[in-house]
Amino acid sequence: SSVAVIVVAAGSGTRLGLNRPKAFVEIGGRTILSWCIEPLRALADLSLAVFVVPEALVEQATESLEPLDHLPAVVVAGGATRQQSVAAGLAAVPEGTDIVLVHDAARAFTPVEVFDRVIEAVRATGHGVIPGLPVTDTIKGVATDGTVRDTVDRSTLTAVQTPQGFPFDQLTEAYRLAGGDFTDDAAVLREAGHPVSVVAGDSRSFKITTVDDLDRADDLLRRSRP
Ligand code: C5P
Repeated sequence: SSVAVIVVAAGSGTRLGLNRPKAFVEIGGRTILSWCIEPLRALADLSLAVFVVPEALVEQATESLEPLDHLPAVVVAGGATRQQSVAAGLAAVPEGTDIVLVHDAARAFTPVEVFDRVIEAVRATGHGVIPGLPVTDTIKGVATDGTVRDTVDRSTLTAVQTPQGFPFDQLTEAYRLAGGDFTDDAAVLREAGHPVSVVAGDSRSFKITTVDDLDRADDLLRRSRP
């Protein structure tokens, strides 16, 4: 069965404070966007990769994606929110595709095993699958004045990552119906009434958001290079 992946990379990266879109920031001499390609190369059934980037960078991204050679890849312009960027990417996925993965470019060091695990579980269940990790901190509900209200039972919580995988038909239908502003695709699917389940995520799938995360990414690279 055919699998397409949408890599959303159209965020501004404001929280990084480097004055350029996050996916075009370099780590270890390569852009975050280009690191995202590594696990995709190793995916057996990938029929299409859609990269969603800021409109002004569509051309530059297309040039930098040359190394994908054997893999069909397209670059499209994103929108003002993550949800709009995913919708733009989804419009480039052809009818007849079986499974669509949606992945944050900011999770550039996600191991290929996570992609495989998600794809396998979508095939096995026929519904949405997202990678997640147990929450290890104690989580408090806090009032606007800073006073603690309660402790949330963390055994029922999961910190959610990407790639999130869905049957193509469910994802396109859910996006057609979606209102609101959702920060992940599982929420869009749940809103449309579809089940979604969790498989094990990976600590290396952390989302590069702040300058500290760039240091963490550098450390990860140093440790993985002999
Ligand atoms: O902002 P945040 O880090 O949560 O964004 C998650 C992912 O969504 C990033 O990879 C970012 O590039 C992408 N995004 C996007 N279009 C937007 C906002 C975020 O593609 N308008």
